Amino acid sequence: MKHEELEKYCKLIHHISGKEIVEKEEVSNNVVSDYYSKSAFFYKKFHSKEGAMHLPISFSNKDSHTSKLLYQADSIHNTIQEHGFSKVLELGCGMGFNSTYLAEKNPNVKFTGVDLTPNNIKEAQNNAKELSNITFRQMDFDNMADLEDQYDVIFAVETLCHSTDVAQVIANISRRLSSNGKIIIYDGYVRPDAVPLTDTFEKQAYQLLSWGFAMTEFQDLGALQSSSKLEHLKIEEVKDYSENVLPNYKAFQRGAIKAFKYPRILKLLLNMKLISMALIKQMSAGLFGPYLIQKGYLGYYKLVISKK
Ligand SMILES: C[S@@+](CC[C@H](N)C(=O)[O-])C[C@H]1O[C@@H](n2cnc3c(N)ncnc32)[C@H](O)[C@@H]1O
Repeated sequence: MKHEELEKYCKLIHHISGKEIVEKEEVSNNVVSDYYSKSAFFYKKFHSKEGAMHLPISFSNKDSHTSKLLYQADSIHNTIQEHGFSKVLELGCGMGFNSTYLAEKNPNVKFTGVDLTPNNIKEAQNNAKELSNITFRQMDFDNMADLEDQYDVIFAVETLCHSTDVAQVIANISRRLSSNGKIIIYDGYVRPDAVPLTDTFEKQAYQLLSWGFAMTEFQDLGALQSSSKLEHLKIEEVKDYSENVLPNYKAFQRGAIKAFKYPRILKLLLNMKLISMALIKQMSAGLFGPYLIQKGYLGYYKLVISKK
């Protein structure tokens, strides 16, 4: 996407959604939960009928879409196997795609998935009803007082980005980590080497992207890595997958560009409540994400963290 197009699409989305609405929306748990309730249908229809709600990671065009979506879960599986782990917690499990797959592959391992959005938890429970080694619970990852266990793996795929203080979330969840356990996080961040955005439309695109994902803003990975809140922890691995999420993310961008060819119709349907704002948000996220990754502002990373 060229800069002129960025300007055009920022104006278009502000026109369809209302610039004020975008700029004034404060992200709360209700906003996040409402967004995911309303967008689950689009995820299932256009992204993954099995209910995955994250970006696929690809190394070759020949891999199937499902195998790319399983990349994150497969890496968790390898960690479980390598260390003989037996208790796993997924934060923000969505419709249960990752944990259900892992529970099937690891029948002797106990899995727990928590998510804020009640509809996602219902769907996850339904999808995993045949499995006895998995439990899904509706819960905020900032308030998990009801969970008593210690876990060998605590993982989160594109979930902690909804928090405005990821370092604090990691510090809190580390109390539930067994002594040799691992926290594994896949997520988007502002790159440690990012040059601050100064261009008006790039700043608007960043705001529309964050709004589009029901987030306040992306966390700065450099600041997270050096946060004093993580002093008691060791960041074992930081792996950059930005190039590997781009191919699919660009396909998502092409779909959004097609849909935005009809802005009047979109605005009319939105006003008539025949489509929800969640759809416009998703398309906005699809439009601007690849631009900001290619610009070198945002990146997609895996982090592995353990106790010192
Ligand atoms: C992008 S989806 C990813 C879902 C799942 N991890 C996957 O890979 O398919 C993000 C999920 O995080 C959940 N979420 C956001 N904030 C949360 C919070 N504070 N506590 C628990 N779940 C949260 C949302 O409800 C949503 O299901």
